[in-house]
Amino acid sequence: MTFNKTELLLLSFFFTLHSPAISWTTPSYAGRQGEWCLLQSNIGITAMHMQLLHDDKVVIFDRTDFGKSNISLPGGRCRNDNKDMALGVDCTAHSILYDIATNSYRALMVQTDTWCSSGAVVSNGTLVQTGGYNDGDHVIRTFTPCFNEICDWTEFKNYLSQRRWYASDHILPDGRIIIVGGRRQFNYEFYPSLSGTFKLKFLRETYDHRDENNLYPFLHLLPDGNLFIFANTRSILLDYNQNRVIREFPRIPDDVPRNYPSTGSSVLLPLDENNGRIEAEVLICGGARRGSFQRAARGHFSGNFYMWTAGDH
Ligand SMILES: *[C@@H]1O[C@H](CO)[C@@H](O)[C@H](O)[C@H]1NC(C)=O
Ligand SMILES: *[C@@H]1O[C@H](CO)[C@@H](O)[C@H](O)[C@H]1NC(C)=O
Repeated sequence: MTFNKTELLLLSFFFTLHSPAISWTTPSYAGRQGEWCLLQSNIGITAMHMQLLHDDKVVIFDRTDFGKSNISLPGGRCRNDNKDMALGVDCTAHSILYDIATNSYRALMVQTDTWCSSGAVVSNGTLVQTGGYNDGDHVIRTFTPCFNEICDWTEFKNYLSQRRWYASDHILPDGRIIIVGGRRQFNYEFYPSLSGTFKLKFLRETYDHRDENNLYPFLHLLPDGNLFIFANTRSILLDYNQNRVIREFPRIPDDVPRNYPSTGSSVLLPLDENNGRIEAEVLICGGARRGSFQRAARGHFSGNFYMWTAGDH
């Protein structure tokens, strides 16, 4: 039986906090239990990437090079792409805009491959999606919310100074975005692009030759203005303005990689501004032992559960 990711995704949207139609027996959450509800049984594409926008719409997109989707581009449009690995002419959409309020969606048009790209929403509400695969690896695409039904992706080809596939992005206090790493990219750059590429030896050092394990590095902007970067088992504090690593934190204690393909996840815990000195704490969960990616390809799976925190104390 195939597992329908798209359906699952839409189920997860509707976990509301105020409609206790199903009662759970967990007293500590009394009054806060939700309800799972299928909103759309098929949105035509798989949600490889999605981003909630400031207007409560969700832009959802998939890779473009895997054949037809199940939703047509409007107006009989087609994409002509002689670099596409599956279809030179593709009249289906690989992105949609989902409107939570009306539970409706419409097709959007992406021109280049967004597979394992990365992105960030800048303060004016525009999503800036960077990189991807093949013809998408140097591309920046923006999506700006609109009140009408016509806004769509805008693409800027050859914008990035390096190929960015599995990079990570973070917004910065001055309005820029920092774009860090990607496959065999031991460097970072900025959007808007004014200054080129900056080397980051840490990314080379955390690259495992067989498994990589330093892709989609975890990024968190700390209260002191520097960028926390976690890759594989190590983490640093980067002053991205001076291209200077100002601190290296201790390695994660069990030496188990946390980044793609040993993918875990990370979050900056809430900051308490009532503390005289704001302390930042990063929580990292998941991960998989070195070699898991290769073993999984041969059908050997092992369960893991890991969780550590790193404090800026
Ligand atoms: C989507 O799938 C349904 C059911 O298989 C099919 O009838 C429909 O034509 C498909 N639409 C597109 C645009 O592929
Ligand atoms: C918002 O920011 C994006 C990305 O920098 C830019 O392309 C766009 O023009 C801005 N929109 C407005 C309305 O200023």
